[in-house]
Amino acid sequence: MRARINRWTSARRNLIFSNKIRASLIQPHFLVAGENIDQPIAGMPGINRQSVDILEKTIDSDMKIGLSSHMLFLVMDEANKDSTASYASNPSSPLHKAVRSLKDKYGDEITIMTDLCLCTGTDHGHCGIVKGNRIDNDETVHELVKIGISHAKAGADYISASDMMDGRVEQLRKELEKEKHHSTGIMSYSVKYASSFYGPFREAAESSPKFGDRRSHQMDVRSGYSEAIMEAQTDESEGADIIMVKPGLPYLDVLREVADAVVRPVAVYNVSGEYSMVMASNPTVDQRRAMVCEILYAFKRAGADIIVTYHAREAITENWV
Ligand code: PBG
Repeated sequence: MRARINRWTSARRNLIFSNKIRASLIQPHFLVAGENIDQPIAGMPGINRQSVDILEKTIDSDMKIGLSSHMLFLVMDEANKDSTASYASNPSSPLHKAVRSLKDKYGDEITIMTDLCLCTGTDHGHCGIVKGNRIDNDETVHELVKIGISHAKAGADYISASDMMDGRVEQLRKELEKEKHHSTGIMSYSVKYASSFYGPFREAAESSPKFGDRRSHQMDVRSGYSEAIMEAQTDESEGADIIMVKPGLPYLDVLREVADAVVRPVAVYNVSGEYSMVMASNPTVDQRRAMVCEILYAFKRAGADIIVTYHAREAITENWV
């Protein structure tokens, strides 16, 4: 555990400690290979899949309005996928390029979190190395650590482990220490349910499993507070710098229990299906403001320090929060 990680830059301090809702928002982005690509995503109006050049322009304008925390997901070409997601640690991937160029340009003014999971890079769409019809935990952790270190080398502020394998925070922290990445944080998706609210994301990231589902590693949606607290405290003791609960709205009660049970900052992920539910009613700007503010206040009330949400850009642009 390194307590200084969350204090390392002004951007990190603002994100985690400011107490202002607008500072605590993280905007997710979907990165694709190529140039000049800016593709809308079905069910997620306003959120596009972008190539590095377009993403840089998007983030330039985000930075101007004070939106300085960004979560990057790599959407891989089918040709780059294999059984171990080997391309995910390739330093010339669009994600690594984007992290390097954004950190070069903005340095300590920007906070970049990179998603860490195998699902966008495996040809079968599973979050891990498949042996028979099961995901092998420890071999998956081995691959995850390689990818995480490659993100750290590119300059990511936080590695955002969304895979739900056992022991990955500990192994990643050990390797970060070994490689002397003493200021790289781990934001762990500690309490992540096998939810049906990830649908639009999986379309966008082309990461749906080709067979089976994610219930052997993501949490059972019927599970109660004790398992959530156990997962959160385990990740905290393994060295996670930020603990996440995901999805958000169906689990506000879990968020409150977890926030009370850990000492590290807590993030909540207002996921793609939650965003789609709001946008599907074709709300006017005023209706959107009312709904989004109500949702953000609920997350804060339930104990979130940090909120990952596809509404971040509009909420900040329009000064809703
Ligand atoms: C990768 C990952 C997922 C999400 C974030 N990271 C999808 C999944 O677990 O299938 C979902 C985010 C969203 O729905 O907005 N494992």
